[in-house]
Order: sequence, then structure tokens, then C-alpha cells
Amino acid sequence: MALAIKAEGIFKTFRSGWWGRKQKLVLKGIDLQIETGEIFGVLGPNGAGKTTLVSILSTLLIPDQGKIQILGFDGLQDGQRIREKVNISSGNANFLWSLTVQENLHLYGMLYGLTGHRREEKIKALIQLFNLEEHQDTTFDRLSTGMKQRLSLAKSLLNDPAVLFLDEPTVGLDPSVSIMIREQIRMIQKEREMTVLLTTHNMKEAEFLCHRIAFLKEGEILTTGTAETLKRMVRMGDLVKIEFKGTILEDELLRADGVINYGITGNLCEIIVDDGERRLGNLIALLSQGGAQIKKVTLGQTDLEDVFIEFAKGTDSNMGGGD
Ligand SMILES: Nc1ncnc2c1ncn2[C@@H]1O[C@H](COP(=O)(O)OP(=O)(O)OP(=O)(O)O)[C@@H](O)[C@H]1O
Ligand SMILES: [Mg+2]
Repeated sequence: MALAIKAEGIFKTFRSGWWGRKQKLVLKGIDLQIETGEIFGVLGPNGAGKTTLVSILSTLLIPDQGKIQILGFDGLQDGQRIREKVNISSGNANFLWSLTVQENLHLYGMLYGLTGHRREEKIKALIQLFNLEEHQDTTFDRLSTGMKQRLSLAKSLLNDPAVLFLDEPTVGLDPSVSIMIREQIRMIQKEREMTVLLTTHNMKEAEFLCHRIAFLKEGEILTTGTAETLKRMVRMGDLVKIEFKGTILEDELLRADGVINYGITGNLCEIIVDDGERRLGNLIALLSQGGAQIKKVTLGQTDLEDVFIEFAKGTDSNMGGGD
């Protein structure tokens, strides 16, 4: 399949202070290959370099070194042509504060060369798509965070991009709004067959939306793969916490299907399994048969931080694989 985004050996340093004497190397040789129609996630903690990477790939920032190809165009030579075919939406987007939702969209529409009836129709459809009707005459400074994010997404579709960059599209939103926005992103990507590069801190978001995920840490991609592969690689699973009375037969627990690890502290048994929902019934049955009285069961998901800790520990052995 054709590559929509290809990056090779991207380095970026920021300079600050007198005469740029302070230097910070933020991207340290990034390689990426993203296929047409793929939703690709860049997952990383604060300061990892996500926004810098997105800014470079969307031609808003020039790297120190490296090659970029977007939709077959050269990222350094053909910036103008690329910008006609891509767009970007940020969770922290800023628009003109005193303009309304509609006015801001018209302003961008004009910048993208949309005129007259076509612009009117397009903006109307996007306002509808993102449920912004009620707020179309509200000025940007009076919008809630969720509405600002929707406006940013609406703006990013004005030029019908073939490649869409989403920089933390749900940052700062409450869970129910985040879920709605994720569902919308998924639907729109499918309908328009766009290539999407999305950055996030959120493992669940990456899992829900992305075909493949890259872990970015301190300017380096530690590994790339599907959510399933990454979890398997670090042998991380779901955490089942069981409060019990009586005894637990540890040998049986260790032999049970899907159990990766476990620990028992007092009356709390913590078990890491490959798939919590699938294994929960069996585990409870096994412990009950062994004589334990089950008091409380909770199922938690693997945390992004845990995965990162694992990657940071075993970077050498984990690098490069997983696709
Ligand atoms: N214009 C700039 N000048 C100097 N340093 C910068 C600049 N932009 C970013 N940085 C630094 O580069 C590093 C990477 O920043 P970046 O914003 O790309 O990270 P991020 O992964 O997007 O983080 P976050 O999750 O907080 O959005 C950070 O240490 C940041 O302080
Ligand atoms: Mg960022």
C-alpha cells in the first residue's frame, strides 16, 4: 500500500537564551512510515516531542536534519502543495477570540480559497457534523473546552484533507465528551478514507482509534506496533484485584490460562492477565474452588505509565520490532 507519510532521520533542536547558546535536542532521529488510510498514534508523556513532530510533519516547522515525504511530496521543497492537502487540529487550538464559531470558520475557509456558496455549504455541514449549531454565534472566548476542540476539528476538515494531524484531540475533556469525539474521529476517518496521525497521552484513546501506535519518549521512538503487539511485547495485561478470605492455591493460579504474574498481600490478590474480561470468570471459579471466599473483584487496565516503565527498562531488547 502507498505510504502517506514517510520520515527518515528527523532531528530537531530548539535554541534559546543569548545567541541561542542553550540548546535542547528534542527529536533524535525519528523514522516513520504511515500507510494511506491508516490511523497512526504517537503515544508519549509530556515533553516527549509529540507536538514538535506533528509540527514538522505538517510543514509548520523545519527540522535540523532528515527527509520527509507527505503524499509523495517532499516535505522540505513542496510545503505549499502539502499544506493544500493536509490539515491539523490541536486540543489546545487558539482561534480569534472575538469572532464567533461561524466567523472563525469563514475566516479559515477564505484562507483555504473557498468562496461564496461552496464555503457557506461546507461550513454549514461541518457545524452540523460537530453539533455546533447552538454555538455557531458564540464568540471563541465564551466556548467551553469541548466546543473549542470541536471547532478545531471542524476547521481541520474545511479543505477535505487527505492527511489529518490531530495533536491531543481530547486533552482536558471529561470522559463522556472524549468518547464522543473519538467516535466522531473514527467515523469521519472511515467515511473520508483519510490518513490520520494522532498524538495522545491516553492509552485507551490510542487503542480505540489507532491501527498502529509508536511510543515516543525523550525524542526517540522506542517501538511501533498494534496495541495488542505492544502489550504482548512488554508482557503487560489487565490487572485483576481480588479481595478474599481464606486461602489461595498459588500453584493453580500460576497455571491458569492467561495469567502473566500475580502477587498476594494480606487479603488482596493482584493478578496480571492477558485479557481481564475473558479470564475473570475462570479466575473467580478457580479461586473459589480452591477454598477462597471472594469479597470484591475489580478489573483495571494496563496503564500507559506501566507500559512506559517496562519500555524504559528494556529499551534495547524491545527496540525496532512489533510491526
Ligand atoms: N519553541 C520551543 N522552544 C524551546 N523549547 C521548546 C519549544 N517547543 C517545545 N520545546 C521543548 O521541546 C520538548 C518537546 O516539546 P513538545 O511540545 O514537542 O512535547 P509534547 O510531547 O508535545 O508534550 P505535551 O504532552 O506536553 O504536549 C519540551 O521539552 C519542550 O519544552
Ligand atoms: Mg504537545
